[in-house]
Amino acid sequence: MTRIAIFVGSQGRGSNMASIVAASQASNIPAEAALVIGSKEGTPSLLRAEALGVRTVVVKPKEDGYASKLLTILEENEIDLICLAGFMWLLPAEVVEKYRSRILNIHPALLPKFGGKGMYGMHVHEAVIAAGEKESGCSVHFVTEEYDEGAVILQKKCDVSPDDTPETLAHKVLDLEHTAYVEAINKLLSE
Ligand code: GRF
Repeated sequence: MTRIAIFVGSQGRGSNMASIVAASQASNIPAEAALVIGSKEGTPSLLRAEALGVRTVVVKPKEDGYASKLLTILEENEIDLICLAGFMWLLPAEVVEKYRSRILNIHPALLPKFGGKGMYGMHVHEAVIAAGEKESGCSVHFVTEEYDEGAVILQKKCDVSPDDTPETLAHKVLDLEHTAYVEAINKLLSE
């Protein structure tokens, strides 16, 4: 069975991670969420992963040997697929190269619009509203060496209504994200 490692960020809630873990535990994806990798100890996402019974590990991006430490852990845990879920760093090139086409990310907008460096969290939803977009949504895409540039696997859309604020839009998009990530994993693993 495909073994997934989920990378979480130090600021996220871990809700996308939790939806992938739940899908794995309910056999709604043909894969096991084997490992959650964080970049800082004790973050909400890591605590949530531990509560869900998933093995966690912390590897600090600024530490020497970050790439080789990650590669060793991924190999030791026999990881086939990497899912980024709220992870804010660029993965080292060595990891991208080794797992090319087997690393996914979720972005809270309809790429290629509103992606790239600095486009994360509430900045994305503020920019969508400021641009007067009529619709937004989320994109699950392959990860490359650049932020948000890999091919899109799946998108889900919602309306942006005139009374939406960045917060209400973020909420609508997050709801879509949880089903989108699971669908994208199923799509990829059925190809
Ligand atoms: C999500 O909005 C996702 O699109 C982005 O980071 C956020 C993570 O949220 N990449 P959560 O930690 O999964 O709740």
